[in-house]
Amino acid sequence: MPDTVESPSSQQLDELARRAEAAARNAYAPYSNFFVGAAILLDSGEIVSGCNVENASYRLTTCAEQTAIASAVLQFGPKIRILAVAVQNLNQSACQPCGACRQTIAEFAAPEAVILFPSQSGPTQCTLADLLPATFHLTR
Ligand code: THU
Repeated sequence: MPDTVESPSSQQLDELARRAEAAARNAYAPYSNFFVGAAILLDSGEIVSGCNVENASYRLTTCAEQTAIASAVLQFGPKIRILAVAVQNLNQSACQPCGACRQTIAEFAAPEAVILFPSQSGPTQCTLADLLPATFHLTR
């Protein structure tokens, strides 16, 4: 992991939020009707998006952040580093990344990575460390 983490530009963050909203339009959410999109900015400058994919066996649902990250690993390999994540939904609701997604993001991101999401008080920006201060890391 690098010592210093590049900060994404405001243009990159705007584009990230747009890509997250576009991804939400492809969500498969017939059970919750909560249509979520996520977009991740990699240190290469690439943006990869994902949407939630639900299942009749509810617990098999995959969150938007997780489909984006799986897609990024598939496209760019296991060494991806995430600089920023945007989450949007089509329901005009607050949508902080869930706990599982925070840990999934942490696998590929530094604590300073930027997270954008709609909260009760509108569009919100914070760091991964704000959302997940005590990340689990496997040490052996
Ligand atoms: N969901 C996400 O896609 N990301 C999150 O961080 C929170 C929840 C999805 C899962 C499910 O399809 C729907 O939102 C309602 O929980």
